[in-house]
Amino acid sequence: MNGSDLKDKREAAGAGDAGLDMLLRQLHEDIGLNLKQYKPNYLKRRIGVRMRATGCSDYLQYRRFVKEHREEGKRLINDLTINVTEFFRDPDVYEAIRKQVIPAIMQYKRESRTSSLRAWSAGCATGEEPYSLAILFQHALESEPDPRSWTLRITATDLDDKALEKAREGRYESAKVPTGLAIEDYFDREGDEYVVKERVKRPVRFLLMDIVRQPPLRHLDLILCRNVLIYFEREKQQRILDIFRQCLRPGGFLVLGKSEAILGPSEGGLVPFSRRERVYRKEGYQLMDNGSRRQGAR
Ligand SMILES: C[S@@+](CC[C@H](N)C(=O)[O-])C[C@H]1O[C@@H](n2cnc3c(N)ncnc32)[C@H](O)[C@@H]1O
Repeated sequence: MNGSDLKDKREAAGAGDAGLDMLLRQLHEDIGLNLKQYKPNYLKRRIGVRMRATGCSDYLQYRRFVKEHREEGKRLINDLTINVTEFFRDPDVYEAIRKQVIPAIMQYKRESRTSSLRAWSAGCATGEEPYSLAILFQHALESEPDPRSWTLRITATDLDDKALEKAREGRYESAKVPTGLAIEDYFDREGDEYVVKERVKRPVRFLLMDIVRQPPLRHLDLILCRNVLIYFEREKQQRILDIFRQCLRPGGFLVLGKSEAILGPSEGGLVPFSRRERVYRKEGYQLMDNGSRRQGAR
């Protein structure tokens, strides 16, 4: 092979999948994120945007650029993790959570004589999703005879530290609550901004966490993972669903995004509860003769 053949080969590798592979491997080593879990076309599109922005003509050149400019690695993660979100995104889904899911959870708790409510917002972006959930749970607790006897804990996780910073701050340009709820009960107005009230913030704990890593969460009543699975390859989606199944208690709920679904029959014990709103429920509980629920039964 002569010198120009070698150069051609290197150039082809730089532009093609081999170059992409090398870039992904380096990013995995440098920033600990396994980007191979994302869909290849999605990665190529987003990385292509950063390559153009940094003037790099192929993956190998961009790989060198990332090595020499550490900020670029972080920038790429921020670009890969699109944080589009809003309060009560897809109102019909939140209506199902409010009217069907939360009452079922509270009924279960009363019957099993426990009073701790545990939820996880996986891929919470800038916090609107876990705060929406906190608002709905608190509204439901207001009609309980002794709301103070209940505890609510919502763990909200994301991979994007900048988004989490904003989430913790809880300060937004716009906000909304469902019909029948008063916005001033949950937000303070500061100039043009809406600031989440302390009572809504208190139950929510934000953590930086990769969704494909098993979190230390168990016996959850509810998981929201909305508009996150779409970025992952099918095999990784299965792994994530498996993690969710393990984290939920029997009878616990999973809510996906409107364009996401669990395909195939009863994926690991998660069965459709409300198909249109993409709500699933973990099997393994059943009504006993006297109407109360028995955990662990199939
Ligand atoms: C489009 S937003 C969805 C926000 C919210 N769930 C909603 O539906 O409004 C997708 C979020 O998933 C997060 N994300 C993507 N990959 C992730 C991963 N591997 N681990 C944790 N979060 C991830 C992104 O950072 C982003 O904030």
